[in-house]
Amino acid sequence: MPALIVGNWKMNGLGEAVAEIAEMAGSGASSRRVGLWIAPPFTLIDRAVIVSAGSVKIGGQDCHHKDSGAHTGCVSAPMLADLGAGFVIVGHSERRRDNGERDADVRAKAMAGKAAGLEVILCIGETRDERDAGETNAVLSAQLAGSLPDDAEALIIAYEPVWAIGTGLVPTLDDVAAAHAHIRSQLVARYGAAGHGVRILYGGSVTPANAADLLRVADVGGVLVGGASLTAASLLAIASAA
Ligand code: G3P
Repeated sequence: MPALIVGNWKMNGLGEAVAEIAEMAGSGASSRRVGLWIAPPFTLIDRAVIVSAGSVKIGGQDCHHKDSGAHTGCVSAPMLADLGAGFVIVGHSERRRDNGERDADVRAKAMAGKAAGLEVILCIGETRDERDAGETNAVLSAQLAGSLPDDAEALIIAYEPVWAIGTGLVPTLDDVAAAHAHIRSQLVARYGAAGHGVRILYGGSVTPANAADLLRVADVGGVLVGGASLTAASLLAIASAA
C-alpha cells in the first residue's frame, strides 16, 4: 500500500495559496508509491480541485451530518463531493474542542461522508492528561466505539495525540507503534477481516525531519500533516521521506 501524505490546512490560505497545490501536483510526487491529499479551507476547494489536475486529491476538513437544510454556515458532504472533493476529515480534535463535537456527531458525519461517496479520515487521539494517567488505549477504544461508521469501506483512521498537534512534541516511535497496534485490534474486533484493510495515519507535529522515521513504524500507513503541509516545499520533502 503506498504511503498517504495528507495535508490539513486548517483555517489557513487565501486564493494565492492554491499555487502551492499546483506545485505539488506538478512535482510528479503523487505516484504509485505516495498518495498526496490536501484538505484546504472550504473556500479554496473548487480552485484547488482545478489546479490539482487529478494528481493531488482534494478534500474537506469537516462536513455536516445532514445533506441539506436550515444549518447556517455549514457545509454538507454532498456539497463537498459536488465541488470535486474526494475525501473529508471528521472528528479532528480542534472540531471536538472548538465546536463541542462528540463521538456520536463524528460517527454521523462519517456516515454522511461515506454516503456522499467520499473517503473518510476519522481522527482520534488522547490528551496529555489522559496519556499521563495511562488511559491512552481506553480513550482510543472509547472514541472508536462511539464514532466508527457501520462498515470499513472508504474509511481511514488518523491517530493524532492532542498534545502532539502544533506543539513540536511527538510520541516515541514505540508509543506510535503501540497506539496503532491497539487501534488495529479495535478495528478487527469491530469489522472482522475488513478491519485489516483500514489505513491508519499518524498526525501531530510531522515534519520533513521526522517523517521518514514515523513512516517506518509498523502499521503507519501515512501521515496527517498540519503546519508542515502549507507549502509545497515542505510537504514534498515529507513525501520524499516516504
Ligand atoms: O490534522 C493535522 C494536525 O492536527 C497536525 O497538525 O501542525 O501538528 O502537523 P501539526
